[in-house]
Amino acid sequence: MTVVTEVVYLGLYFLYCCLESVFRICFPPRRKNIAGQNVLVTGAGHGIGREIAIELARLGGNLILWDINQSSNEATANIIRAFGGTASAYVCDVSKKDDIKRLAEQVRREVGDVDILVNNAGILNGDELLEIDDDDIQKTFDINTMAHFWTIKEFLPSMISKNKGHLVCVASMAGRFGVCYLVDYCASKFAVYGMMEALSEELRCTGKDGVKTTLVCPTVVDTGIIKIPKDRFNVGMLTAKDTADAAIDGVLRNKQVVIIPRVAELSICMSLLPRKFVSKLRDFAGIGLFPQYHSNVNVNRNPR
Ligand SMILES: NC(=O)c1ccc[n+]([C@@H]2O[C@H](COP(=O)([O-])OP(=O)(O)OC[C@H]3O[C@@H](n4cnc5c(N)ncnc54)[C@H](O)[C@@H]3O)[C@@H](O)[C@H]2O)c1
Repeated sequence: MTVVTEVVYLGLYFLYCCLESVFRICFPPRRKNIAGQNVLVTGAGHGIGREIAIELARLGGNLILWDINQSSNEATANIIRAFGGTASAYVCDVSKKDDIKRLAEQVRREVGDVDILVNNAGILNGDELLEIDDDDIQKTFDINTMAHFWTIKEFLPSMISKNKGHLVCVASMAGRFGVCYLVDYCASKFAVYGMMEALSEELRCTGKDGVKTTLVCPTVVDTGIIKIPKDRFNVGMLTAKDTADAAIDGVLRNKQVVIIPRVAELSICMSLLPRKFVSKLRDFAGIGLFPQYHSNVNVNRNPR
């Protein structure tokens, strides 16, 4: 093929992709069936992770729950067992690579290969960068970013050998835009965004595209991770349940990126606007958080 024919082909392919995107908005792909598949969720003891685990168990998944908090993780397992679902709970501190390796081995022995891996566990400090201790910045990266590498390295090989499986990472819209008081958190989530985009590209280039990837980017969810939200127009927060439902819907339809709520997809256009204007727009919208790292939560909640 000459370069000219390739360019013509690319042009036609562009038109095809645009038409397909419009078609997919009207007729989304069917949800895949996950009944009987082994699904591992990190941070399954609370918030979004718990809701994702419960819903995936309702859909017939065989849930493997990892959390640093034994009692809340067991509570999730009990909720699942109460409606007849299957769940095994393991205490795992995902900030520790050795813990991940040891438990991954145990899971393979006791349950089998993981078909769907949901990297969800995350922490947030929330303050001016210079106020946050070095160890807590390090921990944010260990949990929010590095843990994803270690779990993926454990469970991707069996997915690759079958050319089938799904890697899910719960990142954040703070992984797409820098937010005041979230310097370390945003950096950790931007890294996950890059990791997942590159990994999905690598799987495609190497012919392993039977392994799917989904990056979940919610805005603000009422789990308590953001203790003192800023919400000038009382937009309110997403619930963990709605966030989990939207995330799962995207996963089951093999969407590569799921932005929650969908209207937040419009914010992607902000990168085309002048930077100074975007800053003013953010001040106007008044969405974000108040510093929470050293606070006792009872601070002035007036957003401006
Ligand atoms: N809540 C939000 O506003 C929001 C918005 C966007 C993205 N997110 C992301 O969603 C994910 C879940 O957040 P959430 O709001 O449900 O948080 P959460 O605090 O409600 O739950 C987090 C869970 O992770 C567990 N966990 C913490 N450290 C761990 C560790 N070292 N090892 C294993 N488990 C650990 C906790 O015990 C807890 O059960 C996080 O990655 C977070 O960054 C949250």
